[in-house]
Amino acid sequence: MKIGVLCSGGDSPGMNACLRAIVRTAVRHGHEVVGFMDGYEGILRENFYIASMGTPRFVMRSVSGISKRGGTILHSSRCPEFATPQGMEKAANILRKLGIDGLIPIGGNGTLTGAHAFREFWKGKIIGCPGTIDNDLCGTDFTIGFKTSVQTAVDAVDKLRDTASSHHRMFIVELMGRHCGYITLYTALAAGCEIACVPEYPLEIPVIAERLRELHEIGKASIIMVVAEGYHDGVVVMQEKLKNAGCPYPIRAVVLGHLLRGGDPCPEDRILATQTGHLAVCGIEAGETDKMAGVIHNMAVLTPLEEAIAGHRVIPDELRQLLDCVSK
Ligand code: F6P
Repeated sequence: MKIGVLCSGGDSPGMNACLRAIVRTAVRHGHEVVGFMDGYEGILRENFYIASMGTPRFVMRSVSGISKRGGTILHSSRCPEFATPQGMEKAANILRKLGIDGLIPIGGNGTLTGAHAFREFWKGKIIGCPGTIDNDLCGTDFTIGFKTSVQTAVDAVDKLRDTASSHHRMFIVELMGRHCGYITLYTALAAGCEIACVPEYPLEIPVIAERLRELHEIGKASIIMVVAEGYHDGVVVMQEKLKNAGCPYPIRAVVLGHLLRGGDPCPEDRILATQTGHLAVCGIEAGETDKMAGVIHNMAVLTPLEEAIAGHRVIPDELRQLLDCVSK
């Protein structure tokens, strides 16, 4: 079989480890693997990854040593053209011309939504891998890159705590995660933050201000409040509003942004990437399609793409309650 692979949307630490597992599994099983550069755009432009031997085909050694590297050697993009019926038709024609039998897109919600729609245009096998820091997909306990991004956020917050304590200040720290508060809540729990503002459990400014006064009264010398991106007005406006609402701490605001997408993947992300990449190839061999490879309770499983991308991944309320309990 001939299998195409690409990384699309926001990159995430572990995409390279996933690619390595796909290439190693597929080549070992006697298949050919072609890498498309820059996500779906690479199909439309027929832009292939050129392996060390100068051919647009991976060999075992083409992926040596890449598991530990952040980013993606295939590069990534968001491709509006692919989201149109004309773009999908064009991509399908190119895949047919190239003789591709199976496609493995590595990416998040947007990437897999595109993959699911593409089944109407192309009859090859499609199995996606969950590459996103956001942890907003169903059908897997965690997404590839999430744990590394939490580690990066915790490292940053630990450093901010040092200066916050020295100056008796409050820091408002904005973290990525699109519409999902997983990164924010996990960071808050791991770094001992006092308050987490996530889209799933919104807190009004007067409520936050009241909590800050309570924390001040019980002697908290510094405060770290983590805020998911897209929450209310953004951290600078929140800073102003909290000041006006009588926040007892001097406030500074920090946006960590794309920092969370960089860095070498942690071991757990590399393992998850390896499990899902391997399963994606095995799934295509078994004739599966329109599915996502994930890991649930340590078991690698395939979930229909429609379910994987559906709705909003729910954050357990127990975790929010846990933060409230331990942060005072
Ligand atoms: O989906 C991954 C992600 O990093 C989100 O957390 C964030 O909202 C978005 O991508 C940022 O996208 P871009 O890199 O295109 O600005």
